[in-house]
Amino acid sequence: MSDTTSSPTHYDLLIRGGTVIDGSKAPRFAADVGIVGDRIVAIGTLAGHTAARTIDATGRIVAPGFIDSHTHDDQAVLSQATMPFKVSQGVTTVVAGNCGISAAPLREDMDLPMPLSLIDTPPKGRFTTFRAYLDALRATPSSVNVAAMVGHSTLRAVTMQDLDRVANDEEIAAMQALVEEAMQAGAIGLSTGTFYPPAVKATTEEIIEVCRPLSARKALYVTHMRDEAEKVMDSLEETFHIGRALDVPVVVSHHKVQREPNFGKTRVTLPFIRDAMKHQCIGLDCYPYTAGSTMIRTDRGMLDGRVLIAGSEPHPECAGRDLADIAREWGVDKEEAARRLQPGSAIYFQMDEDDVQRILAFDETMIGSDGIPVGEKPHPRLWGTFPRVLGHYSRDVGLFPLETAVWKMTGLTARNFGLHERGILRVGNHADIVVFDAGTVRDAATYDEPTRPAEGIDTVIVNGAVTWANSGHSGARNGQVITRTQAKMTQLSKNPTAA
Ligand code: ZN
Ligand code: CU
Repeated sequence: MSDTTSSPTHYDLLIRGGTVIDGSKAPRFAADVGIVGDRIVAIGTLAGHTAARTIDATGRIVAPGFIDSHTHDDQAVLSQATMPFKVSQGVTTVVAGNCGISAAPLREDMDLPMPLSLIDTPPKGRFTTFRAYLDALRATPSSVNVAAMVGHSTLRAVTMQDLDRVANDEEIAAMQALVEEAMQAGAIGLSTGTFYPPAVKATTEEIIEVCRPLSARKALYVTHMRDEAEKVMDSLEETFHIGRALDVPVVVSHHKVQREPNFGKTRVTLPFIRDAMKHQCIGLDCYPYTAGSTMIRTDRGMLDGRVLIAGSEPHPECAGRDLADIAREWGVDKEEAARRLQPGSAIYFQMDEDDVQRILAFDETMIGSDGIPVGEKPHPRLWGTFPRVLGHYSRDVGLFPLETAVWKMTGLTARNFGLHERGILRVGNHADIVVFDAGTVRDAATYDEPTRPAEGIDTVIVNGAVTWANSGHSGARNGQVITRTQAKMTQLSKNPTAA
């Protein structure tokens, strides 16, 4: 809390009477919050001060806007610029470019393989450079702030004729040049998705060489690992090895353990991660559901459990239906039905609730939706992730206090991704703020009705602009492009809470 004697007495926006949870895990406190322009200028007792607009937050929590640490919103921030599925949850910043997939660099004339094509919905053509992508976002801002990474699978697709082999020296040099361009343009890091066909053949050595330009800047290496099932420990080792070889911070995307024979393995993965954190900088994120969602796959391992079709190009009428029912109706097995439904996306019920809770409750786990903003029946995480953690997991299940829940979606995430002057509700920081009701906040999106907006999110402010209020979007598109800042990233070389 700051003293307010030097503060202006007139604000653009004044949030009165609320309880502040500041995103640092510190206990809540009663305070008003004064905003001028896009900044927080006062936090404290601001009685008697005036404002162009006042928001009554009596009985409500006032917190930093949530940061979605794992998104595939690269094109959505341009094509669905008001981003209702995010701002309705209280999200004010998204980290894009995950799982090896980014919106740039691409060529107009190329065919994209799955899963790259899944989010390739460019409203204004494709971007041949990372700078062109970020410039387009600056020219036509979204309702949320965007920090973007460049995707290794995207680099492979734009560089290599044949993705079914390891990159040769010439291709590695070409990809390095593209990483360098992305870094100079302001990308905060690079992601890989070695689980997916376009990058399955990339070796550890290829990845290290392609990522060389990250080292000088300590930019992030973020990964959807090769294997999240039987070989999850090998995958973690590979990830940490890459981080050490490059001397950069790493983030394990949507940590999970898939398939029934592996249930309970988080008892081993989490202590292993914690131990590695003593020696290098590591982050991880998680979505609060026992089902994942990705492209329609035909491998046995993915079709074991219940599979819901989220969308199918050849069979759009199958969206929302169970794969087993479709297969029975067509008189074929599940593999054949899946093959006929490609290309498309599906929801796979392959995780254990105890594992999900163990990962969510792990100190260093950030919240990330991994929502895929396409299709009629998306995974409910697209609309429900953040209120589900606040309402279901923190309040109802009691996994952790509300202060911890907020930290996992704000301060911790801003620290790990180097998003400075955001993530903590503090004087001088950007006025990204969410006002919510701790007693009623909850996710309303379900597998049957996945696009129902959350409840209990009252007001969402992005860089000082009221963007969501009274269950409706104001139309404001005040999001900014957040670029990598070397000074702040360097501070991440020691992970303060992991010692
Ligand atoms: Zn992924
Ligand atoms: Cu992802």
